[in-house]
Amino acid sequence: MPVAAALRISFCCADTQAQPWLDALRQALPEADIRLWQSGAPRADYAVVWAPPQQFFDEQTALRAVFNTGAGVDALLRLNIPPALPIVRLDDAGMAVQMAEYVCHALLRHLREGDAYQEQQRQAQWVQRAPRSRGDYPVGILGLGVLGQRVAQAVAHFGFPVRGWSRTPALSHALAGLPDFQAFAGADTLDDFLAASRVLVCLLPLTEATRDLLDRRRLGRLQAGGYVINVARGALIVEDDLLALLDAGHLAGATLDVFRTEPLPGDHPFWKHPKITVTPHISARTLLSESVRQIADKLRLLEQGHPVPGTVDRQRGY
Ligand SMILES: NC(=O)c1ccc[n+]([C@@H]2O[C@H](COP(=O)([O-])OP(=O)(O)OC[C@H]3O[C@@H](n4cnc5c(N)ncnc54)[C@H](OP(=O)(O)O)[C@@H]3O)[C@@H](O)[C@H]2O)c1
Repeated sequence: MPVAAALRISFCCADTQAQPWLDALRQALPEADIRLWQSGAPRADYAVVWAPPQQFFDEQTALRAVFNTGAGVDALLRLNIPPALPIVRLDDAGMAVQMAEYVCHALLRHLREGDAYQEQQRQAQWVQRAPRSRGDYPVGILGLGVLGQRVAQAVAHFGFPVRGWSRTPALSHALAGLPDFQAFAGADTLDDFLAASRVLVCLLPLTEATRDLLDRRRLGRLQAGGYVINVARGALIVEDDLLALLDAGHLAGATLDVFRTEPLPGDHPFWKHPKITVTPHISARTLLSESVRQIADKLRLLEQGHPVPGTVDRQRGY
């Protein structure tokens, strides 16, 4: 059902080419008046945002809901936004399969010793290394939400034991059918979860409860030769503690897509560390057409007074 006429939507997305988004939003919501935000613009009913300035919310005081063009809302929640204003994030929208690809690529490259074979090729060495058993590499997934569940399925498909940690018990069908899956829930179980994992995949939102969660003590709980894949937010990990455990040999390596400071500063030790692979926050990109379709569907649900999936719980921070 089309939305009522003359709904005003303001678009304010940093680091985004605005015109393709405006064109797609206008096509998906032809009845709405959709404009690129600039200071002094008329007050809108809805907003589509990514990393907007505080000034946006200071001026846009008539909003009925805000759509975030990503899954993580930590940066948005640092702004001063009216507590009752609903914030709606993207659910999957094409990101989950990308996350599964990225994590499986990093995991399999580690299991199959891709770095060692690359080095052997550089030295023209024909050496067949002893095969590794995936049973020795239980994969622990921190965060069993929209992305974590998809990653758990993909990893299980390759025959790895899978462990998962969430705030509340994970009850979804997607996880129930996995052959070697063990679920842990709540802060009290984190140490046991880590001790049951050798590869750690971070897919938690950044909240007050998860900031600096992975410090030296907790990372040290991972099984010897542990491997860390962080695709969520950089501030989940205490960077110096990760470096110390890599240098001490307890951890074998890390693939990092997200960092406390982005872009990662040119002199940061991660860039040249022999056990670290760095990518520039590309593990799961926002896809325009899927995202616009989802935003339009959710906006219509809101207009009809229905609950909307992906509405952020401001209290818990995700
Ligand atoms: N690198 C990238 O390109 C990229 C792209 C997209 C997203 N991300 C990041 O990925 C994160 C996860 O996305 P998502 O869509 O999967 O989120 P989600 O659906 O909200 O799932 C979050 C999961 O984390 C768990 N969790 C949250 N706080 C916890 C705590 N204190 N203790 C234990 N578990 C906790 C939740 O537990 P419950 O199930 O009990 O609620 C849930 O299982 C986003 O927040 C974003 O930061 C990164």
